[in-house]
Amino acid sequence: MIGSIQHRATTNGRAGASDGVRFEAELSLKRLMPRLQQHWEDAQVDETLRHEFEVRLNEHWSDLFELLFDLYGTRYDFFYHLEQILLTTADAWIHRPESLRRLDRHRVLEPDWFASQKVVGGALYVDLFSENLGKLRESIDYFKQLGLTYLHLMPLFAVRPGDNDGGYAISNYRSVDPRLGTIDDLRLLADALREAGITLVLDFVFNHTSDDHQWAQQAQAGDREYQQFYYIFPDRTLPDQYEQTLREIFPTVRRGNFTWHDGMRQWVWTTFNSFQWDLNYSNPAVFRAMAEEMFFIADTGVDILRLDAVAFIWKEMGTSCENLPKAHKLIQAFNRLARIATPGMVFKSEAIVHPDDVVRYISPEECQISYNPTLMALLWESLATRECRLLVKSLSHRHRLPPDTAWVNYLRCHDDIGWTFDDADAAQIGINAYDHRQFLNRFYTGQFKGSFARGVPFQENLDTGDMRIAGTLASLAGLEKAIEEDDEEGKDLAIKRMLLLQGITLSIGGIPLIYLGEEWAMLNDYEFVKDPAKAGDTRWVHRPKMQWEFLAELDDSLEASGGSIRRRVFLSLQRMIAARKSLRALAGQAMELVNVNNTHVLSFVRHCDSHRLIVLANFSEQPQTVSGNLLRTAGIGRFFEDAISGQTIGTSHDIHLDGYQLMWLKRV
Ligand code: GLC
Ligand code: GLC
Repeated sequence: MIGSIQHRATTNGRAGASDGVRFEAELSLKRLMPRLQQHWEDAQVDETLRHEFEVRLNEHWSDLFELLFDLYGTRYDFFYHLEQILLTTADAWIHRPESLRRLDRHRVLEPDWFASQKVVGGALYVDLFSENLGKLRESIDYFKQLGLTYLHLMPLFAVRPGDNDGGYAISNYRSVDPRLGTIDDLRLLADALREAGITLVLDFVFNHTSDDHQWAQQAQAGDREYQQFYYIFPDRTLPDQYEQTLREIFPTVRRGNFTWHDGMRQWVWTTFNSFQWDLNYSNPAVFRAMAEEMFFIADTGVDILRLDAVAFIWKEMGTSCENLPKAHKLIQAFNRLARIATPGMVFKSEAIVHPDDVVRYISPEECQISYNPTLMALLWESLATRECRLLVKSLSHRHRLPPDTAWVNYLRCHDDIGWTFDDADAAQIGINAYDHRQFLNRFYTGQFKGSFARGVPFQENLDTGDMRIAGTLASLAGLEKAIEEDDEEGKDLAIKRMLLLQGITLSIGGIPLIYLGEEWAMLNDYEFVKDPAKAGDTRWVHRPKMQWEFLAELDDSLEASGGSIRRRVFLSLQRMIAARKSLRALAGQAMELVNVNNTHVLSFVRHCDSHRLIVLANFSEQPQTVSGNLLRTAGIGRFFEDAISGQTIGTSHDIHLDGYQLMWLKRV
């Protein structure tokens, strides 16, 4: 009897079917097989394709069954949903383009393909970068010139009119925003990118739909089946109870997490903007419907699927409704479906939460890769304090990941910076976390005396004193202020800060991700306030429009170090990317910190096979010294070459680092 299935305790909430569950799983599959056979016949699927699918189905079925049983087993109609989910998955394989199936076959044999040091990412908004998908195809040479092999296009699907949260309020997952092009343009672009050796990353915005998605419209028209797709309440009773334990994510949009809908005369759960309706995954029909949307998106040619806002997808009364165990099960269930029908596609987690929670999403069975928000925040923290104690503390026990997974290391993205470091990590080195966050907010909004930064507050919460920071890499690193003040030395320091941070994300282990615009040191763009659909969201300040005329500045008749600031930054970044790709030691994740007895200098060793590289990074504008002997033992050698400056360095003397200097030392 299904109700009496025994569950084995599992680590990390990951599936590992016990005997009882495995037996029920096999029995269910046996009962479903005739249905699957009929499906193959109806669709006239050839023997080889059936076989490939069934091999993977057998491999993953028990885990999938256990996950779904945990999520939905108490429903009277569980078996119906199980059948629907199986057929949806079979359809996905049937309709998968052959070119992608070829990639699938290849990638199951090489599940850590993203661990190569040759992988370098970029992210952009199609409209702001090149207007539309057709023109974006013409920019492939530009990506190659910079050295990118991974491209995240910000959400490009059909959205509601007016404010659409930068594409994150999707009204139809199966059509492209007509201003950007069509689904066919997207497929053409994906093909062209693949041909150029660039993988495509798209979002799966699965926590919510826009309020004008067809399901939401049917709900608004009073259709109860679709009202059950969302969290809809007739009065404040339940919302008030939930509210007791919830955070507010966008407190300046609206207080609380629920929005009154006048037409329905009911309350709707809206974690983010009021027009983003949270999907109700306690309903298995939602899981299946979203699995169909996921497969559709996958088949446009996606290599990496960015799972948006993963922390919020499961809700339970009396909890924060963030990072709940069933949120993990849900993602693992999606992962199993992908392993069965689109196995070449990898999941990337977007969990901008406490570091302990961030890692729980990362495993080959859940999300293979993940944003690294802790590193991001702590690099900015070190830049402000000129010390890397908190960064080192955090890296010492938080950088290591399971095999076949990777960090995505970034400095800026389309979102804000939140100070998501661990309070206990801070306390252990004598830092009061609350005060320190207040300091960082004041520093990065330029209110702290001596600050070089020109950030803007995002979602300031006057009740809690909480705030996040918006701003471009260049403006936060001091370039905007230095230009305003016509301060030549300030400009130089700002450039060095940018390159220091970029050089660390390029070498610390994982996939570096550049938010396009960074390569030109683009400043904050305050024009967004003129657009009523953007004015209320300060994140637009760091989403500037690409200026193609900058390319003319790459005139090669000049010395590499000469010319405009933009030219210097572009060429330096381009060179560091090329160097990364040539350094085998930078593949994979293995990273060991080296204690150089200098709190201003971050130092670590990277190694892969027999290759080693020592990284030294000075977070202070003052020169620093590192003992040559320490270097000799860490690098196991006497002579090194700095892959950044080309300089040769011997360990018989101390090593001198200029202000903000970064060294990548390889043995010679
Ligand atoms: C993610 C996106 C962010 C968006 C939010 C709601 O965090 O990165 O831009 O506002 O989800 O979809
Ligand atoms: C919160 C959420 C994150 C989202 C961000 C947008 O930090 O945790 O998912 O990207 O808000 O500002």
